[in-house]
Amino acid sequence: KPPYDASMPVPKAELHLHIEGTLEPELAFALAARNGVDLPWADTDALREAYRFQDLQSFLNLYYALMTVLRTERDFEDLADAYLARAAAQGVRHAEIFFDPQAHTARGVGMGTVVEGLWRALGRSEETHGVSTRLIMCFLRDESAESALATLDAAKPHLGRITGVGLDSAEVGHPPAKFREVYEAAAALGLRRVAHAGEEGPPEYITEALDVLGVERVDHGLRCVEDPELVARLVRDRIPLTLCPLSNVRLRAVDTLADHPLPAMLDAGLLCTVNSDDPAYFGGYAGDTFDAVRDTLGLGPERLRELARNSFLAAFLDDDEGRRSR
Ligand code: HPA
Ligand code: ZN
Repeated sequence: KPPYDASMPVPKAELHLHIEGTLEPELAFALAARNGVDLPWADTDALREAYRFQDLQSFLNLYYALMTVLRTERDFEDLADAYLARAAAQGVRHAEIFFDPQAHTARGVGMGTVVEGLWRALGRSEETHGVSTRLIMCFLRDESAESALATLDAAKPHLGRITGVGLDSAEVGHPPAKFREVYEAAAALGLRRVAHAGEEGPPEYITEALDVLGVERVDHGLRCVEDPELVARLVRDRIPLTLCPLSNVRLRAVDTLADHPLPAMLDAGLLCTVNSDDPAYFGGYAGDTFDAVRDTLGLGPERLRELARNSFLAAFLDDDEGRRSR
């Protein structure tokens, strides 16, 4: 066994990561060439130039446009493999990975292609990358509740590969309660539940995600800081928040990283984790994110250890045996 090396990145779990948001420009152009897809950018530099986001919606427009290069099982496998290699190099030992099936099924790429393609990489990730994984299927909240129910139905043959459900895409105007029925159905199937809430949407959406959808963990949850009673509840009930500080800067949820409330949230006793969200778009993977909050927010070694410990505490690492064997 090699000796402990203090220069190695701290071991951590990544709990808020959209696999489609790991599509780097180089891979996007390679997949476009392989699949004969015409991209509206001349080259990778021109594409990176387009990454000047004003808000969540302006990011989502590009995010959905670029994923048209993903067509075959092999594309999804290559995407996940590239992410897992980068994550491993930055100290990630466990990754709970979101995917957006409706963004693919809507353009004729089947649920099976997406899930089984991702699984080709995830299923061997412990061996190849030393990273254990879970897959979380997200519903697009700007699509209908009926579409979410149809998506859950289409996933039924693949549930052995899927640990939980989530809710993402354009938040404001699409409150959690719209998805009560599909979350009830997911719970009945034994799926774990999370949801994006309080990224751009108000603190009330966080409360609703807890009370109506029964989520165990809140993705982002940033705007809880506006409601002291909600903060007290999240602290009391040890509800994990999967914060994404670099994403918050790029999508202008905070003005600069130095303004991020993470230190105050930790001081308040919230169970915070830090994650990379869409690292190809927001300028950093998990280790880069830890480095950034250390350097810019002045978090000391104890706080960094707390963040790493929280990431494993908040992970869905207790559902393994039963689910894998069904
Ligand atoms: N928020 C909402 N939807 C998303 C995000 C996000 O940060 N990333 C990918 N889809
Ligand atoms: Zn997200």
